[in-house]
Amino acid sequence: MRYRDQNRRAWDRLAADNSQFTRVATDEECAQPLLTLDSRGWLPGSVRGLDVLCLASGGGWQSILYASAGANVTVVDLSPGMLRLDEREANKRRLSLRTIEASMDDLCEFSDESFDIVHQPVSTCYVPRITDTYREVARVLRNDGLYISQHKQPTSLQITDRDRKHQYILGVEYYQTDPLPPTSDTSYRENGASEYLHRWEQLVGELCRAGFVLEDLVEPSRADPKAPPGHFRHRGRFTAPYVRLKARRRRSTCSIPGTTSIWTPNT
Ligand SMILES: C[S@@+](CC[C@H](N)C(=O)[O-])C[C@H]1O[C@@H](n2cnc3c(N)ncnc32)[C@H](O)[C@@H]1O
Repeated sequence: MRYRDQNRRAWDRLAADNSQFTRVATDEECAQPLLTLDSRGWLPGSVRGLDVLCLASGGGWQSILYASAGANVTVVDLSPGMLRLDEREANKRRLSLRTIEASMDDLCEFSDESFDIVHQPVSTCYVPRITDTYREVARVLRNDGLYISQHKQPTSLQITDRDRKHQYILGVEYYQTDPLPPTSDTSYRENGASEYLHRWEQLVGELCRAGFVLEDLVEPSRADPKAPPGHFRHRGRFTAPYVRLKARRRRSTCSIPGTTSIWTPNT
């Protein structure tokens, strides 16, 4: 499990260096936690009393917002350094949450159907097989449970360089399965981390095959028409770096009357 060791070290370092991903929830954000987490209305009107797994979301943002909204929060992250930030913020705000050091592709700490919501920020790029994560999330979610996840888009991860005309170069093959090579354009990569490209067929197809129904899909924009070459928002004009998915766990078998069963989740 070399990818885990390497990424644990990388994220512990990023936590110690106060990377952008260690920005904790502010008082203003905690005053409107659901609106802050979810401007699109994907979450239910209230999460009070719901069991929420903040998956690979150490850093003291998502967990604090869900806890402020009254949810029973568990944070799973590979990096003890990132988890300490959640604990520090929870103590500061007298909120209660549980932190667990584990990898997203092995959630054996939890029994089946333990959660109502799984919320996962950008992080599946740190595991080689997204199917393992989807299988685990499908297992720990209750029927009709909500899975909100954000991922790096494959095209963005294929970019390695920018040429003299400020055009972006796809230097990585689409069917890359090894860890991504180091790049000169590091806009959407984390220093020292081992990252993997997941194709669309894997990001969306494997999600459906794991027993989810996709309800919505958005591409958060990072484009700024005024951004100069070299700025991450310049690159964001040419390809969207992220995709955010809203999926629902469906355990039941259903069929259209008069046809054979069309939907049989495999877990
Ligand atoms: C982009 S950060 C997300 C956290 C942040 N709170 C945010 O605002 O988006 C990605 C997180 O994934 C975690 N991570 C990396 N590999 C992981 C793995 N295999 N299992 C669980 N967490 C992992 C990192 O430690 C890091 O905290």
